[in-house]
Amino acid sequence: MLYNPYPLLESALLESDPDAKCRAAAELFEKLAAAGGVGKPAAAALDFRFAGRPQKPILVAPADVQKRKMSTTEGYAAMLHAICHIEFNAINLALDAAYRFRNLPEAFTADWIRVAKEEAYHFSLMRGRLNAYGFDYGDFEAHNHLWDMAYKTAFDPLLRMALVPRVLEARGLDVTPAIRAKVAQRGDEATCAVLDIIYRDEVGHVQIGNHWYHYLCARRGLEPVALFRTLIARYDLFIFRGYVNIEARERAGFSRFELEMLEDFEQSLKAAPKTGSWQQALSR
Ligand SMILES: [Fe+2]
Repeated sequence: MLYNPYPLLESALLESDPDAKCRAAAELFEKLAAAGGVGKPAAAALDFRFAGRPQKPILVAPADVQKRKMSTTEGYAAMLHAICHIEFNAINLALDAAYRFRNLPEAFTADWIRVAKEEAYHFSLMRGRLNAYGFDYGDFEAHNHLWDMAYKTAFDPLLRMALVPRVLEARGLDVTPAIRAKVAQRGDEATCAVLDIIYRDEVGHVQIGNHWYHYLCARRGLEPVALFRTLIARYDLFIFRGYVNIEARERAGFSRFELEMLEDFEQSLKAAPKTGSWQQALSR
């Protein structure tokens, strides 16, 4: 029997209570696994501007998120909270991909429902670690950069796959080893174990994004490496700033060739004189 996941995807996406959202993500995965496939309705997805989220954390601009020293308990908890917030957004991003992009093979829908279930698990585990230090999700401010990028790429699954899993989620692969080292230094083995689960699963999530990015490029007759460079430049994004985890990115489906090309390209962008900027146009 086919399972139509769209009503539950919609209510899970709009759900503002984190526990209920996590339960819905797990239920979607179980129902789909028990069914013989995805039943696709004729109705189109609704274009929600915002996904469901609790009233707290208070959202501020990325630059306004207060920086705290990790040496204090509060600062350490703020770092755990930031990871919690990323995982919470990742649930919404995965639900949104499965809900919104309907004219794709059912493996796409199944992949993103599985990702949503895993992100819900990560969120619950990390929230548990935050609770262990006497704090909860919502106790610190946060920014909405991840969801904003989801909305900016909502009109095209190729753009979404290119810029969310391949840029933003892949960035998690770069930063997690350093965070884990700091957590280990503090002797917090329980959080290290959670970070290990997150890191392992995120390689798979970026891999899913890579797979569907290449699938959509092939279907449209587009050259994936050149297109990605164009998108990176056009959306003012970057890959090579700070440490880049080549080994994990290769496991997640980036080729060494593409990564080397990207590094060269970004260096050439940095070195190039900024001709044609609006400041220059005004000063002429
Ligand atoms: Fe995650």
